[in-house]
Amino acid sequence: MTVPDLQKCKRDGRKIAVVTAYDALFARIVEQAGIDVILVGDSLGVVVQGKPNTLSVTMEEMLYHTRLVAGAAQRSLVIGDMPFLSYQVNREEAVRNAGRFLQAGAHAVKLEGGAAVADRVEAMANAGIPVIGHLGMTPQSVQLYGGYRVQGKGKDRAQQVLEDARALQAAGAAALVLEAIPAGLAKAVTEAMTIPTIGIGAGPHCDGQVLVLYDLLGLFDEFVPKFVKPYGHLKGDALQALCRYKDEVEKGLFPSDSESYH
Ligand code: KIV
Repeated sequence: MTVPDLQKCKRDGRKIAVVTAYDALFARIVEQAGIDVILVGDSLGVVVQGKPNTLSVTMEEMLYHTRLVAGAAQRSLVIGDMPFLSYQVNREEAVRNAGRFLQAGAHAVKLEGGAAVADRVEAMANAGIPVIGHLGMTPQSVQLYGGYRVQGKGKDRAQQVLEDARALQAAGAAALVLEAIPAGLAKAVTEAMTIPTIGIGAGPHCDGQVLVLYDLLGLFDEFVPKFVKPYGHLKGDALQALCRYKDEVEKGLFPSDSESYH
């Protein structure tokens, strides 16, 4: 999967499945499932690092996880998520940091924001760096929202999202993530764009969907937004396995003869 392939998916009406991954093991499993776009999301701050939000995730941490995923992925498009303060300060820093993701093995970067970051998107695109925009509920603005809340509700706010989408596309964005906005608005944005939209909590009309891997697998259950569908129950499976192991060690049942050398 390449960036131009993403555009082709939209033209051909082929839906794009995207998931996050943060390490080599899961990157390989994701690829085995035939999912060909992997986002190394700054959501790792919450699901891997156990923080309350993504704001403390650093460039070095993102590059480390990007290297793990990109080193394992053979065919997937790997997108590196630019962390808080890696692109907001100025254009030069934004381009330099975006370039570091490509040097770490990513094929594209993602950043949050609309018209306000369009100049950064343009500068990155001019430097040959494919950029994915991210609109709607952008987690790096959680303090501004006062919590994780649906965005783009009401005529004016919906219009703002649409204008931001247009500004990002005009600046050269390769695709857009639309997070936690009404399905009707996501449909309008998707129809107005020539670049693909990837929804998360944005209804069924986007050109593709993305979920956080640990949410999808049922591994992370501390906070489950309405838009998450757990396709597995890995936390329950892990707990069960660990309890059985503990029980068997304590009863002297593990290791048995078949796990012993003679
Ligand atoms: O960080 C992340 O995983 C994301 C997705 C939820 C879109 O930005």
